[in-house]
Amino acid sequence: MGAQYAQLIARRVREAGVWSEIAPPARALERARAMNLAGIILSGGPASVYAPDAPVVPRELLDLGVPVLGICYGMQWIAHVLGGKVESTGKREFGRMSIAIAAQHGPFETVDGHTVVWMSHGDSVTALPSGFVALASSDTCRFAAMEHAARKIYGLQFHPEVSHTVRGREMLDSFLHATCGLAGDWRPDAIVEREVAKIRAQVGEHGEVIFGLSGGVDSSVAAVIVHQAIGARLHCIFVDNGLLRKGEREIVERTFRGSFHMDLTVVDASKRFLDKLAGVTDPEQKRKKIGHEFVEVFRGEAKRFKNAHYLGQGTLYPDVIESVAAHGGNTAVIKSHHNVGGLPDDLDMQLVEPLRELFKDEVRAIGRHLGLPEEIVARQPFPGPGLAVRCLGEQTPQRLHVLREADHIVTSEIEAAGLHKALWQYFAVLLPVKSVGVMGDARTYEEACVLRVVTSEDAMTADWASLPHELLAKISNRIINEVRGINRVALDITSKPPGTIEWE
Ligand code: XMP
Repeated sequence: MGAQYAQLIARRVREAGVWSEIAPPARALERARAMNLAGIILSGGPASVYAPDAPVVPRELLDLGVPVLGICYGMQWIAHVLGGKVESTGKREFGRMSIAIAAQHGPFETVDGHTVVWMSHGDSVTALPSGFVALASSDTCRFAAMEHAARKIYGLQFHPEVSHTVRGREMLDSFLHATCGLAGDWRPDAIVEREVAKIRAQVGEHGEVIFGLSGGVDSSVAAVIVHQAIGARLHCIFVDNGLLRKGEREIVERTFRGSFHMDLTVVDASKRFLDKLAGVTDPEQKRKKIGHEFVEVFRGEAKRFKNAHYLGQGTLYPDVIESVAAHGGNTAVIKSHHNVGGLPDDLDMQLVEPLRELFKDEVRAIGRHLGLPEEIVARQPFPGPGLAVRCLGEQTPQRLHVLREADHIVTSEIEAAGLHKALWQYFAVLLPVKSVGVMGDARTYEEACVLRVVTSEDAMTADWASLPHELLAKISNRIINEVRGINRVALDITSKPPGTIEWE
């Protein structure tokens, strides 16, 4: 219903071992009828039910005989269409509130008494539709939750999906397991078998697939699934653009050629990329040139395979949802998605995307199930333009080498300390800024390196991470002693917003 939290709700449901799919209001009824449906959740959203462009779902959705849970706007919409009253309170109720639970029904099966929830709404339900009773209330919100026991329709005025709602997970779990009767036995690896069958049907007996492998977790897991489906008819291409991290190419060769025996072509295009980047320091120019060059290299390689009418990609569910939003869904567009650097339409190939319905955590679980090594499965995200957006100023083989070595020290020390599991990203940035130092008895005049270490849930926001001083000291010492070209190490203590995770 227009919620930025819709993905989070879908993810929480999956985490409870239940398959979930997000449908925009206009397609909700059609999707609901097409599947073996066990329950419906209507999300929140920024609109008022009285707004002219308020999202509406067909009323029949409430008559399908499956339990319904309306969250925030979803609850208001249910109350509105079933004859209750929704009114503006004149001010937004925003933040943590304590609610008193009246009965342990539906989402409150395991929760009673008082509990803290996260509210974020302007309108409220002020009169319940007939057949409904109040399930919870707060000082400011008479109907913080409602229930129609016979029809199993529930409404929550607050957000059970966000972590500020202390027992929110339990509430969703109760709705899914107790109310909808779902066992919670869906596991992400169940999808591998289904996807393998789908790929075989799509590609047929003779079709070949080419796959741009980056070594990141998404493309790696997707490639292994395609390989399970069609074996040697999968051709992977890994482009070494000269902007990779230390050892990256070797990991990819060792894993996919060595362990998985896949057909892998490594294209050494580093000179080509660095020639194009010579003298370029503007971040957007860098990104554009890299994206363009990647497409050119890939297009050239694709020509070598005459029967490869299929292109494999590691597109994930969030990418799909964002593309839907960009093409007329109800959620505001955060970014328009272009996978594989925005491949040209005239490649004229059909897409094979086995991860289209999955979230990142699920992809990691599948990766482990398929036997991919931790060095790939647990990998931190790495941007498409590679080290270029971390090597500020001009890209030269020498400066990239310096950055690569410093970055390797940062990552290996953090991993050796076992801290990486709690971090979203941890890397080094090289600045085109020289300062004076002293080493031994000699003067140095070299560039500075910055440690960028952040925690995050989804990269939309991030906090700079606090590392133990001893670890920071060790990293700094090692970089200065071992990496010629850096004589000063700084720490980035900017969160996102206002900063971004990458420096360019
Ligand atoms: P920012 O710097 O915008 O980054 O806070 C958010 C997340 O996205 C990654 N990132 C990219 N990933 N292609 C990608 O595939 C890109 O061009 C790109 N730029 C940034 C970044 O590493 C962080 O995880």
